[in-house]
Amino acid sequence: MSVEEIYNGIYEIKADDRSTLATKNLTPGMSVYGERLIIEDDVEYRQWDPKRSKLGAMALKKFEIPLEYDSAVLYLGAASGTTVSHVSDILRDGIVYAVEFSPRTMRDLIQLCDKRPNIIPILADANKPQSYAHIVEKVDVIFQDVAQPNQAEIAAINSKYFLEQDGQLMLSIKSRSIDTVASPKKVFKEEVRKLESGFDVEFEVLQRKELDPFHEDHLGLIAKMFVDEEED
Ligand SMILES: C[S@@+](CC[C@H](N)C(=O)[O-])C[C@H]1O[C@@H](n2cnc3c(N)ncnc32)[C@H](O)[C@@H]1O
Repeated sequence: MSVEEIYNGIYEIKADDRSTLATKNLTPGMSVYGERLIIEDDVEYRQWDPKRSKLGAMALKKFEIPLEYDSAVLYLGAASGTTVSHVSDILRDGIVYAVEFSPRTMRDLIQLCDKRPNIIPILADANKPQSYAHIVEKVDVIFQDVAQPNQAEIAAINSKYFLEQDGQLMLSIKSRSIDTVASPKKVFKEEVRKLESGFDVEFEVLQRKELDPFHEDHLGLIAKMFVDEEED
């Protein structure tokens, strides 16, 4: 078996001609959603399934993942914490603010946070960043996976509130949440246009790739933000 750190805190484990994405388990002995635990050289890793995680898919699609061990991350659309748990593994000296608006899903997320102090769960609507502005500090990275018709707008308002000047936005855009009949490519083009010039914060898209075969009709992108000072 061989283990290679391909990004900060993200590992590729190779055995018997098979390759597995993984993170180092912050809570050894505990699996979060039934994922396989792999021990190599006395270190325990958690298998990370890219089909269950847009961020995992982005790692395998060779995006330049901007996470550092000590990053502060705002994660919008945390659900019960499948991907957030891997972000928590990566940020061994950092923090992840995990926003989710479904109370039922939040119950599972809170259980996860009991064991992982670097996750701050926030029950809130990502359309209303002012409702959690008293909890969230400026962050290095915003990761968003909310599957809503106004995904670009949610990304823009949260970036304006919380993203550091040199921070980066990582966004998963689900075309069918925006338009069920239009071609995904057309939807993606329009969402990118909105990010580049549709709001009072503007973004430069650094990387964009579709997330197939892991997630059909999803675009992953990484962008940095410009604030139009004249607007205020
Ligand atoms: C595709 S799932 C996220 C899966 C998760 N990112 C993962 O990989 O484990 C989308 C989640 O976003 C949440 N969501 C959708 N709109 C939201 C909003 N406006 N504010 C907060 N959460 C939202 C949904 O309740 C759902 O749990």
